[in-house]
Amino acid sequence: MLDRTLTVRVARIRPQTADVSAFEFVHPWGGTLPGYRAGAHIDVHLPGGFTRQYSLAGAEPHAAGDHHATAGAKPSPTGAAPGCTHYVIGVKRDEASRGGSASLHERVRAGDLLAISTPRNTFPLHAEAKHHLLLAGGIGLTPLLAMAEQLQREGASFTLCVFARSRAQLAFADELAALAPQVRLHFDEPREGVGAHQLDIPALLRHHPPGTHLYLCGPGGFMQAVLAAAAHWPEDSVHLEYFAPPTPDGGAGRDEPFTLVIAGRNIEVPVAADQSAVDALHDLGIDVPTSCSQGVCGTCAVPLMGGHPDHRDHCLSATERRGRIALCCSRALAGGRIVVEIG
Ligand code: FES
Repeated sequence: MLDRTLTVRVARIRPQTADVSAFEFVHPWGGTLPGYRAGAHIDVHLPGGFTRQYSLAGAEPHAAGDHHATAGAKPSPTGAAPGCTHYVIGVKRDEASRGGSASLHERVRAGDLLAISTPRNTFPLHAEAKHHLLLAGGIGLTPLLAMAEQLQREGASFTLCVFARSRAQLAFADELAALAPQVRLHFDEPREGVGAHQLDIPALLRHHPPGTHLYLCGPGGFMQAVLAAAAHWPEDSVHLEYFAPPTPDGGAGRDEPFTLVIAGRNIEVPVAADQSAVDALHDLGIDVPTSCSQGVCGTCAVPLMGGHPDHRDHCLSATERRGRIALCCSRALAGGRIVVEIG
């Protein structure tokens, strides 16, 4: 299903912490919004011409008969749940921001109309897991909160570990309280009182219980710490979503031109050194859906049929990279070719 643009009304803005607010969107005339599965995100088109991606922070109940959906099948990339009444996103005001978060916090008010995309899910729960271990850093909580709510409703086994600087900086505290006792809270500041744990990430991930899947979302340093501690976990059991690309290590050189071959269509697309495969395809009138354009969301990933890819995304696992490639950022190695399928 292609993404559509929807108009929604901002129903409520609920401050969560000094710098995080929850924005609740509803249909402008009281209708139903397209449904979604936990882990989905939307594009929000903001005043000032910015477009930003935000994870949906609440998992909508499913229709009768869909109760065991998590245990049955991988959700579709667009989300397969029936319609719902509202969407909630959690947005942290970034003091350095001149774009998305500042625009939302300063210019958007309850009652405003906003354009958003339909939900898209590139960070789904995995049906085969016996236990789901969810690790959230800061506002990275939003997709994992939706996952925890869905898992609780379905009676699945899960633990949600939330890392925040202090109790005052914990967003969605009421929703987390409703998920106890599967929630463990860690605060960087000591003596945060009842309910707080001192969670040691390496100790938490030292052993990989068979059948356990790990999901993580948070700031770059948190992601690096978790991935280092889980380096010995099977790659197919670790799933992550970045807010933004990790800081480059400075080793990148000048890009080379390469050729993108569209399998089954006898089309060869030259991609110049200074453009992406998505841009080159767009120039030919072939559109590939994109969202972040930074390699973190997976929206632009298409089947990879051959060639020598230089994967540069931060969203596909090593296994997924054998069969898919993110065209907004990845290229062919050494100016060569890659063969992809574009529907
Ligand atoms: S558009 Fe997000 S990974 Fe390419």
